Amino acid sequence: MKIAVSGKGGVGKTTLASLLAHTFVARGFQVLAIDVDPSPCLADALGFPRALVQNLKPIAEMEDLITERTGAKPGTMGGFFKLNPRVDDIPDRFSVTHRGIRLLELGAVKQGGSGCICAESVLLRQLVSQILLQRNEVVLMDMYAGVEHLGRATADMVDALLIVAEPTARSLATAAQIKQLATDLRIQHLYLVGNKAQDQADREFIAANSPGLTIIGFLSADKAVLDADRERKPVYDLSPTLVREAAAIADALGQNEP
Ligand SMILES: Nc1ncnc2c1ncn2[C@@H]1O[C@H](COP(=O)(O)OP(=O)(O)OP(=O)(O)O)[C@@H](O)[C@H]1O
Ligand SMILES: [Mg+2]
Repeated sequence: MKIAVSGKGGVGKTTLASLLAHTFVARGFQVLAIDVDPSPCLADALGFPRALVQNLKPIAEMEDLITERTGAKPGTMGGFFKLNPRVDDIPDRFSVTHRGIRLLELGAVKQGGSGCICAESVLLRQLVSQILLQRNEVVLMDMYAGVEHLGRATADMVDALLIVAEPTARSLATAAQIKQLATDLRIQHLYLVGNKAQDQADREFIAANSPGLTIIGFLSADKAVLDADRERKPVYDLSPTLVREAAAIADALGQNEP
């Protein structure tokens, strides 16, 4: 299953992606986690040791690789470069693995003006397509607010887009915008995840203000998330409540066993 996680800044996308990654590993799945954030932090959330993360570099910053594969220098426009660069070896070569989770950092997928094609965006798009189409692991993509950088072709291959929102009007307004973008891209299965719910009233607020999205689950506000950050441990190790709630979301996605 290929799952993308989106939502307004700070709503808990990375927290949810990391919880689901550990949940799927515990169920026996192979997991490929992809950090699409321009300032990556999924590695920390997953509890990857520093020494391991030092070997990780966002693909978008690998100038030599981009030049080698596309035939063009990153940042240059026009000229000639390959539109279908080889990417099949990239996930395995440039990722690191910890506790059964393979992690790849993509870095910023530069948008540019409409119709802009540059070497790095071609490589990243090709890479995301290849991953979504060819890899047989559970793929979890920790995105940022927009989903437009997925592009039409890759959006087709996402099985579920989880849009995270807090019990705030603003994050739900962003969820509505993402829903619109995703619908334009014809992404099929869109779900809302309510995060940082302190009580039933918070859950009801999210439900009442969902922009017509099915709510696939809630994650409670839990101080363990803060503790995990400070102790550089995965939330999965510190919060039985969030582990249970993440398991319910995995169940709802229909992912019980490989
Ligand atoms: N369930 C929760 N309970 C308590 N705090 C939470 C919870 N989920 C997230 N947080 C806190 O909210 C902040 C943002 O969380 P996180 O980094 O997961 O969000 P994000 O959407 O990935 O953010 P960004 O847009 O910066 O990538 C963090 O400080 C985190 O500790
Ligand atoms: Mg994040």
